[in-house]
Amino acid sequence: MLDILTYGNETLAKKAEAVKEFGPDLSAFVEELYTTMAKGKGIGLAATQVDRLLRVFVTGVDEDKLRVFINPEIVATSPEESDFEEGCLSLPGLYTHLTRPTAVKIQAWNERGRPFTLEADGLLARVILHENDHLNGILFIDRLNPVRRDRVLAQYLRRTRM
Ligand code: NI
Repeated sequence: MLDILTYGNETLAKKAEAVKEFGPDLSAFVEELYTTMAKGKGIGLAATQVDRLLRVFVTGVDEDKLRVFINPEIVATSPEESDFEEGCLSLPGLYTHLTRPTAVKIQAWNERGRPFTLEADGLLARVILHENDHLNGILFIDRLNPVRRDRVLAQYLRRTRM
């Protein structure tokens, strides 16, 4: 299992680099991401969170298969938005409501170097948008208005520093 970086680690705020080489090393890394996500009881995990600045994330939403997205590009998001309580393995114990587009169309490559396009909605769309943000150094709390962001972050920091 890989160590998961938590809030305050500056790597979480960095932009990840495109994957240039597909092969056994990448496949092994993807397997490690799946294992780490499962052990952390997460439904998504980005490479950035395990200290690898590569454009790779995995999802494991209930009732959906495990998925990997390499060098992903968000092609479109729905004008409709929905509000849902979100969390992150890099901010353990912090859950807060956040508004995001309800559906997303994404293009990416799998670990064998095959391109695919996926249209997702509901929880999978939300996880995809959350994990894609990690690749750009954005945490879900960064999408809250500044007042709410400061409030939930202060609560989190009080709790984790006790
Ligand atoms: Ni996260």
